[in-house]
Amino acid sequence: MADLPTGFWSGWIVVLTCVSLATLAWLILSVYFAPSANDESDAEPVWDNDLREGSSAPPLWWFWMILAALVFSLIYLLLYPGLGSYKGLLNWSQGSRIIESYDKYDASFQQARADIAQAGLVEIQNDLVLMQTAERIFTRECSACHGPDARGQASLFPNLMDIDWQWGSSAEQIEQTIRTGRNANMLAWQAILGDENVAQVADYVAQFGEPGTDSHPGKAVYTQNCAACHGIDGAGNPLLGAPDLADNIWLYGGDLETIRASIASGRNGVMPSFAGRLDDAQIKLLVAMLAR
Ligand code: HEC
Ligand code: HEC
Repeated sequence: MADLPTGFWSGWIVVLTCVSLATLAWLILSVYFAPSANDESDAEPVWDNDLREGSSAPPLWWFWMILAALVFSLIYLLLYPGLGSYKGLLNWSQGSRIIESYDKYDASFQQARADIAQAGLVEIQNDLVLMQTAERIFTRECSACHGPDARGQASLFPNLMDIDWQWGSSAEQIEQTIRTGRNANMLAWQAILGDENVAQVADYVAQFGEPGTDSHPGKAVYTQNCAACHGIDGAGNPLLGAPDLADNIWLYGGDLETIRASIASGRNGVMPSFAGRLDDAQIKLLVAMLAR
């Protein structure tokens, strides 16, 4: 809805409306009650002996009708917005009507929402209807990135159905991921380590956990630069979002070339925060859907 006019245009509308109403009032009063209307001395012209104009006053019910319309207009303009930016005594507006009905609509679901926010995860997971709701929320809010079946896509958005969790698999950790979002921060190692070391450590990471890698030249580079986040054994650290490098699950790709690219140029995946977009019940439903 366009805003109500203010300043000059508001005044202009007020003046125009009042002058129109006053003119109308004056017009009907003058038509019906002007002294000349019933004045017999104001003789009508007569032509050809008996031709008269025959003008007579309009019926009186017209007067009452126009008067009623005038009074209605005045009362209406007093109560409702209409006179420029004057909001009317009732303070009615289309906008507040819409907000009111939204509030009513929200209130009717408040109890159901509170119940979901309080419910246990297992309870929700066993409720088919609630899980269908969760899937609908996921489809609407998350599937653009994580894929329609939550199995990730584009080697950029993680699979949420596998057992590998960068930021932790507990309900609390998943809830925090959704609520506050996550910013992964893995710097670019090319400038720090140089080609040779990057190639070696990439090769080491690609073979992580396989037998015979103890004497791998990349191991020393790894222990010195990478273990702080990814762990000596490569198991990762959910506090930093550092992924497990020893399992065979990769976000960006597990072939040697992609691993080298991840290390050389760094990776900064961003999971957006949904705290302002989803309410507690919706977040709870998503956690119940993802946590196992
Ligand atoms: C704009 C794209 C985008 C949207 C939308 C999005 N995510 Fe994410 N999400 C990401 C990215 C990117 C990551 C990986 C961040 C990283 O690299 O650490 C991620 C990570 C996650 C993780 C952590 C995975 C792990 O292994 O720890 C969870 C859980 C998650 N998202 C859930 C959701 C849910 C639930 C929604 C919908 C409410 C959602 N995401 C919507 C991009 C998105
Ligand atoms: C400051 C902590 C930190 C350090 C130090 C660090 N990393 Fe990372 N690394 C991360 C984080 C966080 C991610 C996840 C990036 C993302 O999700 O966008 C990551 C991602 C990766 C990936 C991609 C994994 C995948 O699933 O595709 C590889 C490979 C990797 N790191 C290797 C290394 C190597 C090798 C080193 C040492 C030279 C190293 N990292 C040092 C934090 C670190």
